Amino acid sequence: MWWCDAVIYQVYPRSFADSDGDGYGDLPGITARLDHLVELGVDALWLSPFYPSPQADAGYDVADYRDVDPLFGTLADADELIAAAKARGLRVILDLVPNHTSDAHPWFTAALGAGPGSAERDRYIFRDGRGSHGELPPNNWQSVFGGPAWTQVPDGQWYLHLFDAGQPDLNWDNPSVRAEFEDILRFWLDRGADGFRVDVAHGLVKQAQLPDWHHPPTPLTGTDLTSVRPPMWDQDGVHEIYRSWRRVLSEYGPDRILVAEAWVQPAERLAQYVRPDEMHQAFNFEYLQAAWDAPSQRNVITRSLAATDAVGAPTTWVLSNHDVVRHASRLGMDMELVLHKGIGPRDPQPDEELGLRRARAATLLMLALPGSAYLYQGEELGLPEHTTLPDEARQDPGWRRSNYTAPGRDGCRVPIPWQADAPSYGFGPSDRSWLPQPPTWARYALDRQRGVPGSTYEMYRTALRLRRELELGSGTLSWVETDVPDQVLAFRNGDTTVVTNFGPEPVSLSELLSSEVKVLHASADLDDGGKVPTDVTVWVATLTR
Ligand code: GLC
Repeated sequence: MWWCDAVIYQVYPRSFADSDGDGYGDLPGITARLDHLVELGVDALWLSPFYPSPQADAGYDVADYRDVDPLFGTLADADELIAAAKARGLRVILDLVPNHTSDAHPWFTAALGAGPGSAERDRYIFRDGRGSHGELPPNNWQSVFGGPAWTQVPDGQWYLHLFDAGQPDLNWDNPSVRAEFEDILRFWLDRGADGFRVDVAHGLVKQAQLPDWHHPPTPLTGTDLTSVRPPMWDQDGVHEIYRSWRRVLSEYGPDRILVAEAWVQPAERLAQYVRPDEMHQAFNFEYLQAAWDAPSQRNVITRSLAATDAVGAPTTWVLSNHDVVRHASRLGMDMELVLHKGIGPRDPQPDEELGLRRARAATLLMLALPGSAYLYQGEELGLPEHTTLPDEARQDPGWRRSNYTAPGRDGCRVPIPWQADAPSYGFGPSDRSWLPQPPTWARYALDRQRGVPGSTYEMYRTALRLRRELELGSGTLSWVETDVPDQVLAFRNGDTTVVTNFGPEPVSLSELLSSEVKVLHASADLDDGGKVPTDVTVWVATLTR
């Protein structure tokens, strides 16, 4: 199956390419740049939401699941984009947001109008409040973005929103909600979508009675196997929903896929989302969060592969997306502190050079692993987080809802640079850009890297070509034991050996592997003596002496 070893590129439409100069990327902009993705060598693209939306959470608040927001174009533009991608051999994954709608969705407007106890209200999670006059929220749940997860409406009832108040949670016990989403799947499958990335896939079903949750609010990080699961995440009832969706997709043949965005740990629980009759892939966020050292990396890779093997699924690797600090910055500082919180101008700043060096090594490590991998737009340029965005430019609802304490996710969403010397770095025909681009980004522009040996862009291209030729995505991993397990990670995948040096000293490949080697690819130049320096990954062919 194509998806088992596919490399899938995430396009964040508002920040990829702007065709009309309004400062927001759009669908015609993406269509015009598809040849970039072909040249890069990916198999598919995933498009973050482009549906009509008040944009309270950058389009993850959907008001109409069957159309395109005028900000991004028209439904005809979506059809054209899908057709143009297919003509180039690229598959197209869309983003499905089933946990909540926008408060501007006609269902929510109807629910407000129809009043307590109505069938319209039953599509959402409305409850009476606590306190003698219902003046307190129904329970103590907090929104992922900060503040209470409940908002009161004029007639006194409260509605649940695990995210922004503009994102009311749907009631997945209601059959009309289930029927509607099956219909939405068919709408896009009929238009040629190759699958769906399922937003907040671990959140749809809440524990009955909505009990209070007294543990620290770690909403997106999941739990371990032994701890009590939060009543709003990873409830067993979600799986039946995905089984029904899998049946819908199967009507369209074996090639359409579902990928879960489920912040669920440990790997064994995440693997339940990719059992044979459920979804095809689930982002491996435990991997994304793993510390940059040899034992942690080996541990998370081993456990991930074992967990997905146990259910007969491949593993889905990822290092960056539109919700986390870009890995080129994360790896240049203490990642624990910043992953979701973001980085602002008053925070400690990442070491840009160190971050990029490690990011390149991390990427070459990831792309050599068996399974599928997701890339986030701009990482092929080595793009760092924009860490000094002015406060007034910030748009992430988490910034406001955290009382301006968490800078949020805007820093990884800045429009990407295509041309060093053009207005908005070639993002669009004007100098407008919905988030300001840093003045230092010319060096990351595509036109400065294309055809330049050693550039991050050419490193990615070569990696994707070799990954295909060497069949790394469909291979099998076996660890190579070395004398320095705390410093070096080494594994075989088919005829290729992959070595990452996390330690302070350069390592000699021939000593490490006790054989002559031929270097196929490297994330940075090797030492004069052919040694692998710190924070470098190499792919080698081993030659018998
Ligand atoms: C997912 C999305 C994120 C969004 C949230 C609510 O985590 O990736 O961007 O804010 O869901 O829809």
